[in-house]
Amino acid sequence: MASLPLSYYGEDVLRAVAEPVRKVTAEIRKVIDQMFDTCAAESGIGLAAPQVGLSRRIIVCDLSHLDMEPFCLINPAIKRRYGPLETEAEGCLSVPGVFMDVTRCRDIVVEGRDLKGRLMRLEATELLSRCIQHEVDHLDGRLFVDWVEDREQLASEIEALQGRLAEIKLTGKREMPQGAFVG
Ligand code: NI
Repeated sequence: MASLPLSYYGEDVLRAVAEPVRKVTAEIRKVIDQMFDTCAAESGIGLAAPQVGLSRRIIVCDLSHLDMEPFCLINPAIKRRYGPLETEAEGCLSVPGVFMDVTRCRDIVVEGRDLKGRLMRLEATELLSRCIQHEVDHLDGRLFVDWVEDREQLASEIEALQGRLAEIKLTGKREMPQGAFVG
């Protein structure tokens, strides 16, 4: 396992618009391997390259707990959002310990390249759809907290988060979020 260090809330890389990948080189494939390892080690269901400090348009999704094969998408683009709006709690490896409701479309069509550079077109619903939307947001410098409607609760959560991040910087340790959506 070769995990990469995570970027956290407040770091510029999480607010940048990530650069497209022009060619799937050995270096890119290595980064993707490390992203899978990091995602698994941190018990996430998804991870975007900016979360490991790399401003490139790459995401991985790992819903292996639902018997789904983990996969990556390079230069993913959401072509369609449809179906009913659904509200669920989300969390993020880069925003540790914060879980808040976010409303998103239930269904999407997404296109991107796989590890071999082949075009993939995917219809996704529910958790996978939410995961992909959350990760693609990361590539555009957006975090799930940007979509939270309860701004008052968010403000107090962010305050608590600052303390948690200071602790992480100091000790390198943090509690593993369990169970819920973490991407
Ligand atoms: Ni996230």
